[in-house]
Amino acid sequence: MIHLKKDHEIAAMRLAGGVSSTVLREAAAFVQPGISTLEIDQYAGERISHYGGKSAFLGYRNYPCQICISVNEEVVHGLASGRCVQFGDIISLDVGVRYDGYIGDNATTVAVGGCDPAVQRMMEVTEKSLYEGLGQALPGNKVVDISRAIQSCVEASGYSIVREFVGHGVGKKVHEDPQIANFDDGSRRSPVLKPGMTLAIEPMVNLGQRHVEVLEDDWTVVTRDGLPSAHYEHTILVTDGEPEILTCPENLPSEPRES
Ligand code: MF3
Ligand code: CO
Repeated sequence: MIHLKKDHEIAAMRLAGGVSSTVLREAAAFVQPGISTLEIDQYAGERISHYGGKSAFLGYRNYPCQICISVNEEVVHGLASGRCVQFGDIISLDVGVRYDGYIGDNATTVAVGGCDPAVQRMMEVTEKSLYEGLGQALPGNKVVDISRAIQSCVEASGYSIVREFVGHGVGKKVHEDPQIANFDDGSRRSPVLKPGMTLAIEPMVNLGQRHVEVLEDDWTVVTRDGLPSAHYEHTILVTDGEPEILTCPENLPSEPRES
């Protein structure tokens, strides 16, 4: 069942989106050569609390960290550790914040200092595919229109789309209906998009082959071929017209409040 948000819920989703996007930016700016992923995670947790939010991921299905930090060949759900990031690494950061009972979910990929231009280009195409996908989040369109736009953008550039993990509805819970594949999965019925739907759109793109596996820690998703992967995500609202991006810093609550 796809829940259409009422106005007061949308207002809370904007605040959650404002906090999660601000913390994502702050965490991305915090990344520098020599820092450990645990330091990044702790910093992100402090910033979430500063704005009166809570990590939406910590404890979700026993997830052990504040945010997801995925380095190089790690695709998503990377766990913080003592590992120090180095010049040339790329780091995907995924921040989900609960604020006033609602969740904002967003992700970005950043290079540490700089990286191989071929990898930089993959990151740019992944971000572009996110915007192509959310550009299809129009009332009367179907979920699969988002999926197809992402897939054609990515595959036209010669990269692969990860199939095992998908975007999703988001609201009071991290994962709500519908699922939003980043490729056309051929299913006969794709939900029609309606104003009031709030969706997390999140392409995961590999430089090499699309295949992934989950490490022994039961969380970290890596590419099978060991080549790097990028991940971008926004939470959006389907409106009567163009979609509204909820995960933007302009939506940060003006007064930090007690949580
Ligand atoms: N944005 C990711 C997702 O939607 C983050 C979930 S991580 C988890 O799947 F730890 F919460 F599972
Ligand atoms: Co998500």
